[in-house]
Amino acid sequence: SIAVATTLDELRAHVSDWRRAGLRIGFVPTMGNLHAGHHSLVELLRKHCDRVIASVFVNPTQFGPNEDFARYPRTPDADAAGLSAAGCHLVWMPDVATMYPFGPDGAVRIRVPGVTDVLEGAHRPGHFDGVATVVARLFLQVQPDAAAFGRKDYQQLAVIRYLVRDLAFPIELLAGETLREADGLAMSSRNQYLSAEERPVAATIHRTLRRMAEATQSGGALTDVEAEARKSLTDAGFDVDYAVVRTPELAEPGGIAQAPGPRVALIAARLGRTRLIDNLEFTTA
Ligand code: PAJ
Repeated sequence: SIAVATTLDELRAHVSDWRRAGLRIGFVPTMGNLHAGHHSLVELLRKHCDRVIASVFVNPTQFGPNEDFARYPRTPDADAAGLSAAGCHLVWMPDVATMYPFGPDGAVRIRVPGVTDVLEGAHRPGHFDGVATVVARLFLQVQPDAAAFGRKDYQQLAVIRYLVRDLAFPIELLAGETLREADGLAMSSRNQYLSAEERPVAATIHRTLRRMAEATQSGGALTDVEAEARKSLTDAGFDVDYAVVRTPELAEPGGIAQAPGPRVALIAARLGRTRLIDNLEFTTA
């Protein structure tokens, strides 16, 4: 069955054994309350690595003061069982004092410029700095050969790519496809905050992303596509943070809106107390 490490010594003992044996180590960072989307990242790494480590750590430095850090769902036993079934070899479950020996406020911080200023970064100030800060620590603790992140968190993946390149982490990054429920809702630990009434409404996000892609592909003007998306979400009962079409680098397509090329539609919206994000990558012909 799966090994669990809660101290750096335990983690390092496993990692150094595997290194001595010449094994390739893959790593999946998570905040726990795991679902099939997380498990798919373990399965992806199994194809590229001999051993897979997952971390479960609800990271205080990436939550804003009015966000859900305290009530974020914590299910360590179910997480370890699910990871074991997915083929994970070791779960790294540090506590806050292990991750941040000087406390979260005393932590050496990593700030990634540029990509963190727009969209998700603009709506959650400091969020991506917290993500970069904890992911850099996790990389240094685990020292994996490869690490997997989900495309569901599109901008987070961009932040991690920047971090790995800029700090020259010798880690191969793998991107996992977004796993969805039958009605298209992207799997997320936050879905369980949704009430029975809100749950079917939440699928409006994916339907709207698909409509944004289709409307853009059939030549719709960017401003119309975005305004219609915002209206469908608002009509369904959402508070919309953004509903936009961007280039893969998150620039506004602007004058090149009709030029063929890769695009991504991104939505962040709140339904009651629950904030959901999702995106859809597509190409205009
Ligand atoms: P968490 O939200 O737990 O997500 C962990 C990983 O699972 C991320 O790479 C995320 O993109 C991926 N993931 C989430 N939902 C998915 C889905 N439906 N399909 C496929 N992959 C999915 O993202 C974080 O934690 C944290 O910010 C972290 C990187 C661990 C740093 O604290």
